[in-house]
Amino acid sequence: MAIIKTIVMNSLLLISILCSDAVVAGREAPINNEVSDKSNGDYSSNWSGAVLNAPPSGTTFTSVSAEFSVPTPGVADNEAGSSAAWVGIDGNTYQNAILQTGIDLSVNADGSASFDAWYEWYPAYAYDFSDISINAGDNVSLSVVSTSPNSGIATIENLTNGQKASQILTAPDSSSTLGGQNAEWIVEDYEVGSSLVTLDNFGIVTFTNASAGLSNGTSVGIDSADVINMIQNESGQESEGTTPGDDRIKLGY
Ligand SMILES: *[C@@H]1O[C@H](CO)[C@@H](O)[C@H](O)[C@H]1NC(C)=O
Ligand SMILES: *[C@@H]1O[C@H](CO)[C@@H](O)[C@H](O)[C@H]1NC(C)=O
Ligand SMILES: *[C@@H]1O[C@H](CO)[C@@H](O)[C@H](O)[C@H]1NC(C)=O
Ligand SMILES: *[C@@H]1O[C@H](CO)[C@@H](O)[C@H](O)[C@H]1NC(C)=O
Ligand SMILES: *[C@@H]1O[C@H](CO)[C@@H](O)[C@H](O)[C@H]1NC(C)=O
Ligand SMILES: *[C@@H]1O[C@H](CO)[C@@H](O)[C@H](O)[C@H]1NC(C)=O
Repeated sequence: MAIIKTIVMNSLLLISILCSDAVVAGREAPINNEVSDKSNGDYSSNWSGAVLNAPPSGTTFTSVSAEFSVPTPGVADNEAGSSAAWVGIDGNTYQNAILQTGIDLSVNADGSASFDAWYEWYPAYAYDFSDISINAGDNVSLSVVSTSPNSGIATIENLTNGQKASQILTAPDSSSTLGGQNAEWIVEDYEVGSSLVTLDNFGIVTFTNASAGLSNGTSVGIDSADVINMIQNESGQESEGTTPGDDRIKLGY
């Protein structure tokens, strides 16, 4: 994995040719969007969740974490689909990089579900953790920590049995450093290539114990976060976020 990561850092093209099985299926696209502000809230065609778009004055975000109970995703419109629940630093308005970790919640047309835990330093690809598996009903914690603008750690833990996977990441190139300007807790309809995967009915994801660490050693909750609702079209798929409490937000399909 270390060698593969080195190659990724130097050439996205090379990695896709030489090491395609290391790339998480379907996760080659950037996860980066600016959410349009509408009068009664923020809406996105592919994001649902909570975002802090600026750290308190004089600080930067250095970590983002939360816990959730893994839902059983269901089919929408009888189709196989997927969504990803993740936490990250710099995923919204900051453009250069995103440090993120999450779990893909996928369902086949026959209703069977599967889960992949991954980490990513955008614009590099996402990789699956090889040393943790996820079941519906597991309580998991997700965290990303930036140890410097160009290094960090992603961790996912099964809180119920303590099984834990961690990965040290580095910025894929010198322009992809973190600014610590956004913190986010998201369920996303992510992209494969340049189009969105079919969104599944992810059910309910409630991020609890959500917090963002600051560079001065304290942390903040999400009660002042912007809530984003995912609406894909007039009639169809949407998800709704509740107003966050200090450390929780509930996202429902
Ligand atoms: C994701 O949503 C953003 C705005 O919310 C939009 O700019 C972007 O085009 C969307 N991505 C796709 C692939 O639709
Ligand atoms: C860190 O910054 C936050 C936000 O400005 C502030 O509330 C807190 O008191 C600061 N903590 C320290 C230890 O400086
Ligand atoms: C997470 O821990 C619980 C409790 O031990 C266990 O039942 C579950 O299977 C674990 N999940 C995985 C994917 O190992
Ligand atoms: C997950 O957490 C919830 C709330 O703390 C708890 O009620 C539930 O028993 C936990 N589930 C597992 C599998 O540990
Ligand atoms: C909440 O998360 C922090 C780390 O951010 C952890 O130390 C603490 O144990 C968690 N609390 C609960 C109740 O899970
Ligand atoms: C809404 O989106 C779904 C899936 O993307 C699509 O199948 C459906 O035709 C869309 N409906 C409208 C009214 O655009």
